[in-house]
Amino acid sequence: MLSKKVEDALNEQVDKEGYSSHLYLSMAVWAEMEGLGGIADWFYAQAEEERVHMLKLVKYINERNGKAKIIAVKEPPSEFGSVSEMFNKVMEHERFVSASINEIVQVCIDENDHTTHNWIQWFVTEQIEEEASVKALIDKLKLVGEHNMYMFDRDILGMRGSGGEADSE
Ligand code: FEO
Repeated sequence: MLSKKVEDALNEQVDKEGYSSHLYLSMAVWAEMEGLGGIADWFYAQAEEERVHMLKLVKYINERNGKAKIIAVKEPPSEFGSVSEMFNKVMEHERFVSASINEIVQVCIDENDHTTHNWIQWFVTEQIEEEASVKALIDKLKLVGEHNMYMFDRDILGMRGSGGEADSE
């Protein structure tokens, strides 16, 4: 049984993961319109992964006798300036999500909820991996430069930890 505070914190995270999915979908569209098919595919897969994160939370809340809240997702931006600017935005967003997961960990400690504390560790690890993979992409971008987008667009799918497929977990 979830306490009200833990349930509310998890439901806020449902919204954040839903927004992440929308944000990355919007980035996929932007990249596709720029003719950057590799980058677009990376973001489509990322959007799918975020949706899986959202579902993971929804199912857990319901399983623990809470009720998942499905609300309207805020509209994401649709213009990103350049590929570098877009990936810097991704980094900023993932750091925001990591901070949010950390807050849930704290709520679990405050509420003495060892079960959710244990369960949420999957997200803690996932955030470490996501931040690391975005950092690797930003480093690579600096190396190839904005003028050599052909190479970056061709190589980006090979840089997905899970080999280009959305992680099914
Ligand atoms: Fe599910 Fe990238 O946070």
